[in-house]
Amino acid sequence: MEDLTSYPLELTGPDIPMVRFLNVRKSYGELIVLDNLNLDISPNEMVTIIGPSGSGKTTVLRMLMTLETIGGGVIYVDGKPLTHMPKNGALVPADARYLRKARSSIGMCFQHFNLFPHMTALQNCMEGPVQVLGLSGREARERAEELLMMVGMIDKKDQHPSRLSGGQQQRVAIARALAMRPKVMLFDEVTSALDPEVIGEVTNVIRDLTTRHSLTMLMVTHQMGFARDISDRVCFFFGGKIEEQDSPDELFSNPKSKRTQQFLSAVKAAD
Ligand SMILES: Nc1ncnc2c1ncn2[C@@H]1O[C@H](COP(=O)(O)OP(=O)(O)OP(=O)(O)O)[C@@H](O)[C@H]1O
Ligand SMILES: [Mg+2]
Repeated sequence: MEDLTSYPLELTGPDIPMVRFLNVRKSYGELIVLDNLNLDISPNEMVTIIGPSGSGKTTVLRMLMTLETIGGGVIYVDGKPLTHMPKNGALVPADARYLRKARSSIGMCFQHFNLFPHMTALQNCMEGPVQVLGLSGREARERAEELLMMVGMIDKKDQHPSRLSGGQQQRVAIARALAMRPKVMLFDEVTSALDPEVIGEVTNVIRDLTTRHSLTMLMVTHQMGFARDISDRVCFFFGGKIEEQDSPDELFSNPKSKRTQQFLSAVKAAD
């Protein structure tokens, strides 16, 4: 087992990142998917990950959601270990109870909006706050209605997902994740399964979140224009590592690494 004694029990100091990946490794059998990943995300920062298929982008988000076990290293959220817990003055792998609690600080939206099909839009947004956070029905309803209003779905609050378009379902899914008041929101290709004409309704909601709300966000997208528009920083992933990271203008206009240049010209050619 990995020697964890050199990892701090918690992060201290004036500039604690909201998220820190510290030497994070992940393999599936022989395949190394994350290769000693180090990545800090500041509070309220919007970081976007781009890169070729299979480069480990979704894995990064799944690690943060604690949907995958960690192969090495430690992930910290808001200064506290996420994947590990302190025990007798050292870090040990987190147990199920610790993970359940730690996980509630992370919200996620995937490519396929997995709303509960038997619940209305409103009920979808109330379920977590009532069941997990212990809010009263009234409090949960108020919170849900406010968020459905924000994503422009209040008119459809009593509809079931099957009666909503893809873009509408995705907006409800974003409201549902936000209803848990996460510290960090993760988006994985949330527009990839959508018809082109409704992509804008979803990207506008995410754009709104970056300007009007204080929320730390990590997004994976194939939409380079959108990434350039809204990100504070863009990370280009290659082979489970950050090949290059920079401000969007710098990374897209003046990529330094050959691999970044090749990737960006390939996606431009496909556009
Ligand atoms: N459960 C799993 N078992 C085995 N291999 C896996 C598993 N999940 C992911 N992988 C492999 O890990 C690598 C990284 O996968 P990941 O889903 O993170 O890629 P990605 O960058 O999100 O790609 P895409 O752009 O296609 O979504 C891939 O080679 C993938 O086949
Ligand atoms: Mg992926």
